[in-house]
Amino acid sequence: MRRFRIAGIVGARPQFIKAAALCKAYQSSRLKKKLDLFWIHTGQHYDYTLSDIFFKELSIPKPRYHLGVGSASHAEQTAKILEKTETVLIKEKPDLVLVFGDTNSTLGAALAASKLRIPVAHVEAGLRSFNRQMPEEINRVITDHISDILFCPTRHAKKQLLKEGIIQAVYQVGDVMADILFSYQKRVKPRRKPRTYYLATIHRNINTDDPRKLARIIRALSGLHKKVILPLHPRTRKIIALSRSLSRLLKNSAPIEVISPVSYAEMISLQKYAYAVLTDSGGIQKEAFLLGVPCITLRNETEWVETVTLGRNALCPHPTARTIERLVERMLRKKFMGVSRRIYGDGSASERILKHCEDYLKKSHD
Ligand code: UD1
Repeated sequence: MRRFRIAGIVGARPQFIKAAALCKAYQSSRLKKKLDLFWIHTGQHYDYTLSDIFFKELSIPKPRYHLGVGSASHAEQTAKILEKTETVLIKEKPDLVLVFGDTNSTLGAALAASKLRIPVAHVEAGLRSFNRQMPEEINRVITDHISDILFCPTRHAKKQLLKEGIIQAVYQVGDVMADILFSYQKRVKPRRKPRTYYLATIHRNINTDDPRKLARIIRALSGLHKKVILPLHPRTRKIIALSRSLSRLLKNSAPIEVISPVSYAEMISLQKYAYAVLTDSGGIQKEAFLLGVPCITLRNETEWVETVTLGRNALCPHPTARTIERLVERMLRKKFMGVSRRIYGDGSASERILKHCEDYLKKSHD
């Protein structure tokens, strides 16, 4: 019997976490006999704290290829990913390419595979922010439209694809980040005194690339009445370091404690025991929701709309300390319906994805 070969593409921090969920399901599945799942790391993220730490901590096998792409402009980074992935795909000839999320690695690899007529499966398909200022929105729209199998985390995402005319091989499977979170969260111990701090993350270009916007966010955080723990993404750190006024502002912001990016377990712990989470990340909004912690999204819109409609996430594109505090208090007053956390699945999304991949490959090779 033929063992189908699947190349999983990762490159940036959130993809390592998604890959870890798939690896865990793969290791314990009978499908291991039928599928050979191997990994290609584009090298989009290369700092230890954004990459290697997750491979170690989450027991992700060493990638078969590391493309060493690194940082560059969007065009250059995507072009390098496209070119280098193509070379590997020509050599390896996998039966299927699995891409995750919405980064430049997702788009570059999906494009390389589809031009080689290798089927592409997109994990986290159908999400939209409807904001084309975000590079991630462009990446996810194009990736969805060139993919052959689409794995949607929610009903809403599946509906969106149908609206865009994508109807074939669209599956609502649940969310892979929820899979890994469900298996981790019970083991997590508090690292700080619970509910005494906010946890904040800022790295989106819409917040970091305009110094006035970044200054506004830092000012808002520094006016809060609780400590703010800020694991600082290298992108944001570099931008602040290059600006004397931003550096001074951050240095004089007493409640803000800047720390380096942290491991997955540490991030889950910091979120779980936070008073509230303040973020512009997509994955963190969803994790905060699943952990039952109020979230303020420092953006105009979110692709995880359910977190907002269910009253546990509030959009705040122009934050002040006062608005943040009011929004959090309002969320805390409302009772959270635990059952609705299931909108992101039951923790078996990864198993479903592997099974659908196997079915697809079996059918197309019959
Ligand atoms: C990327 C993704 C974003 C995801 C995020 C998670 C795209 C378009 N964006 O954003 O969707 O939420 O990863 O972190 O793909 N840098 C380092 N070390 C690294 C990686 C990056 O210092 O290991 C710095 C560099 O200055 C680089 C900047 O961060 O220029 C941006 O990195 P890049 O990977 O292009 O985008 P992210 O902002 O990390």
